[in-house]
Amino acid sequence: MMPEYEDRHRRVRARYDSLARQENACCDANYSPEDLAAIPQESVLGLGSGSPVRHADLREGEVVVDLGSGAGVDAFLAAHRIGPQGRAIGIDMTPSMVERARKIARREGIADVDFQESIIEELPLEEGSVDVVLSNCVINLSPDKAAVFQEAFRVLRPGGRLVISDIVQERPLESSNQDCGCVGNAMLRAEYLQTIREAGFRDLEVLEDRAWLTASDGIDASAITLRTTKPE
Ligand SMILES: C[S@@+](CC[C@H](N)C(=O)[O-])C[C@H]1O[C@@H](n2cnc3c(N)ncnc32)[C@H](O)[C@@H]1O
Repeated sequence: MMPEYEDRHRRVRARYDSLARQENACCDANYSPEDLAAIPQESVLGLGSGSPVRHADLREGEVVVDLGSGAGVDAFLAAHRIGPQGRAIGIDMTPSMVERARKIARREGIADVDFQESIIEELPLEEGSVDVVLSNCVINLSPDKAAVFQEAFRVLRPGGRLVISDIVQERPLESSNQDCGCVGNAMLRAEYLQTIREAGFRDLEVLEDRAWLTASDGIDASAITLRTTKPE
């Protein structure tokens, strides 16, 4: 990994380390009351930009990976939908986030979920071993988004789905660490969608699209949720 990428990872990790240690859970308007009631409350830190699980059409027994799983909100929701025959795997590079999520799973006795510490640019998973890759407001933080999409493509089985919520810039903005770089390090929309297609994904659909950051003269950044497929 290039030194500037490692440097960015270090800064992002420091930011999320402090958020992982907060005592209280948060609210998150992206989830329905039924979804929130189905998962442990401490997994909800209010850090997402959408609800990819809602659009993933998860089936019993599927293997699901959540990139940048934080305290586990989407992994726990996925585990709830795929049932005991399935497996939900949360991947996060911040040790305290992984520890928080693991602790919740242990305490609640949720056996079909596990959390692994890793960067999402290099996934610790076998090629073609996953049915669905999810991610919620994470890929914008990556210094190498092309690598993330290539890795998602590699680990998915043919016909597998990538369903993600993320932030895209609507016009070039200065790179900054404001908002931990969610907006400042996001890609322009067209470039982002092109990077996904270049990784090999097809049939890309944007399912949710809303303004995330606005200025007096228009929209700077949007939160989108999209679904796309690895060809059979
Ligand atoms: C904005 S939070 C979102 C957490 C979770 N998806 C949610 O909706 O609550 C971003 C998470 O992604 C993790 N993360 C950011 N960049 C990452 C990377 N390159 N590799 C692995 N994890 C990363 C952070 O540690 C943090 O837990």
